[in-house]
Amino acid sequence: MSKNDKSLRTPIVCVMGHVDHGKTTLLDKIRGTSIVDKEDGAITQHIGATEVPISTIAIKCGNPELEKKFMVPGLLFIDTPGHQAFTSLRSRGGALADLAIITIDINEGFMPQTIESLKILKKFKTPFVVAANKIDRIHGWNSNKDSPFLLTYKAQNERIKQMVDEKIYKIIGDLYELGFNSERYDRVTDFSKNIGIIPISAKTGEGIPDILMVLLGLAQKFLEFNLCYDAKSPGIGTVLEVKREKGLGATVDAILYDGTLKKGDTIVIGSLGNPIKTKIKAILKPNPLSEIRSEEKFKSVNKVTAAIGIKISAPNLENALAGAPIKVVSYDTVDGITKEIKSEIEAIRIDTSLDGILVKADTIGSLEALVNEFKKENIKIRKADVGEISKRDIIDAAATDDKFHSVILGFNVNIRSDAKEKLDALSNLKIFSNTVIYSLIDDYVDWVQLEKQKSKKSVAELIIKSGRFELLPDSVFRQSKPAVIGVRVRGGIIKTNVDVMTEDGVVIGTIKGIQSQGKPINEARIGMEVAVAIEGVVAGRQIKDGDELYINVPERHVKILEQELIDSLKADEIETLEAFVKIKRKDNPFWAK
Ligand code: GTP
Ligand code: MG
Repeated sequence: MSKNDKSLRTPIVCVMGHVDHGKTTLLDKIRGTSIVDKEDGAITQHIGATEVPISTIAIKCGNPELEKKFMVPGLLFIDTPGHQAFTSLRSRGGALADLAIITIDINEGFMPQTIESLKILKKFKTPFVVAANKIDRIHGWNSNKDSPFLLTYKAQNERIKQMVDEKIYKIIGDLYELGFNSERYDRVTDFSKNIGIIPISAKTGEGIPDILMVLLGLAQKFLEFNLCYDAKSPGIGTVLEVKREKGLGATVDAILYDGTLKKGDTIVIGSLGNPIKTKIKAILKPNPLSEIRSEEKFKSVNKVTAAIGIKISAPNLENALAGAPIKVVSYDTVDGITKEIKSEIEAIRIDTSLDGILVKADTIGSLEALVNEFKKENIKIRKADVGEISKRDIIDAAATDDKFHSVILGFNVNIRSDAKEKLDALSNLKIFSNTVIYSLIDDYVDWVQLEKQKSKKSVAELIIKSGRFELLPDSVFRQSKPAVIGVRVRGGIIKTNVDVMTEDGVVIGTIKGIQSQGKPINEARIGMEVAVAIEGVVAGRQIKDGDELYINVPERHVKILEQELIDSLKADEIETLEAFVKIKRKDNPFWAK
């Protein structure tokens, strides 16, 4: 009890990282070995969560003094794929996890989910350590079961040491690219400035004592304030997942992070509609020593205190929302808390504009993270919601004329089959889906850019550009029908089937053909000397040697050139366009404005 008297709750540690980089094995190791080392029940394994008491950590680290040195009661580890647990585990606009471990396969290095996880930690400013895992796979590594890293490192030959160092430098470099300073953990003097990298093997247990020590250190140093809580206060938690269980119906897996939860308590839980008010029928803890996700037998308990992972059985939980708050209420607080939870969830779902894209996500936590990222990118969102992509979403998204908004972005969600049918009929609607937040955003942004470039290109091809040319002396090859004259292009582009205009603004004819050295060509650019066939003029009458003629660009085309395509024009094209517009505006100052 002495720890609880100090009222520091168990820090919540999220294990994150790329698929197969060893998150579950690491936890298995922490859990498994500790259980072997300690009496039964020293390790309590909860829903998606493993609680490791400080006493067990002390034994694992071979330092019984730890218990006195650190005030936290232990560490609560949470393991689910990728970053999902982290974003689901939200507490009002922030992250619930106090600390994180990023596992990286030291032989594979950074992968997309590693980067995703790091970006999320950066955003939430969550202290973390890097577990550079699978050192035992380095060729020639000499394993020393459960050894602290430095001891096993010293026992390796020079070549292996050098290989480890090189792999760590690579991770340091990659972290630096993402804006983190890092060092091998034993070289870090200030953990608020540098991220500690701990080489480990989740398989052999090497480096595990070091990870536990560094995590405890981080908790003690940076989190004391966050971890203060009142064990006797009404419980507050977050929904991790809603699950159907045989004989129980819908249940909620949750992390309780503040106060106490008791059987019979009335709780309010966030949902997509009005918050659910219900009474706890049972609080369930999975039996120790069994794998969380395959666990079927639970032990019913009367009371739990934060921080802890539990399954809650109560009526009407079907519509509870992953990532939503759970709060114990009393007669006095029920109305206020219900309102508060409702507005908290609506703020994420409805804080949207009149136009923009549609976003669907698997949990309210990931939706919140997505919406925030979109805001940063100045991407407007018309509708943001939790759940699969439905027929309604398809109809909503298709209702806009704006191609770039007729889009649905789905994060970790499926498309319902009736929606698929609807979708097949709507070729204009675009759906992006991804399980990595940043990739989803990048996919959309890249697509918009590409489409804009494409449409600019096709517009550019249709637009008549400016051009001017000078009639060369003694170069009339034919006088009329059409007149064929030698010219030098002085700027812009000359093409066929465009009208020509004099310097006085009089349109005199149409270019019907261009030839260079006796061969027809499609266009002529600045500096070229070519022969042009102009229908409608008689050489020597309307035009004469030395005259300068302009391509007559239609007013609407000038507007598009000036407003949309100006960046793609060359200097001589701009200059020619300006000279042309000047002639036009002599008579009409508002021409093409
Ligand atoms: P997901 O849950 O699918 O994202 O994967 P994970 O990160 O939990 O990885 P997991 O723990 O399932 O490990 C993936 C594979 O790598 C398993 O076959 C492990 O046995 C193996 N593995 C994990 N850590 C180590 C290690 O330190 N050394 C060796 N040799 N193998 C490891
Ligand atoms: Mg796993």
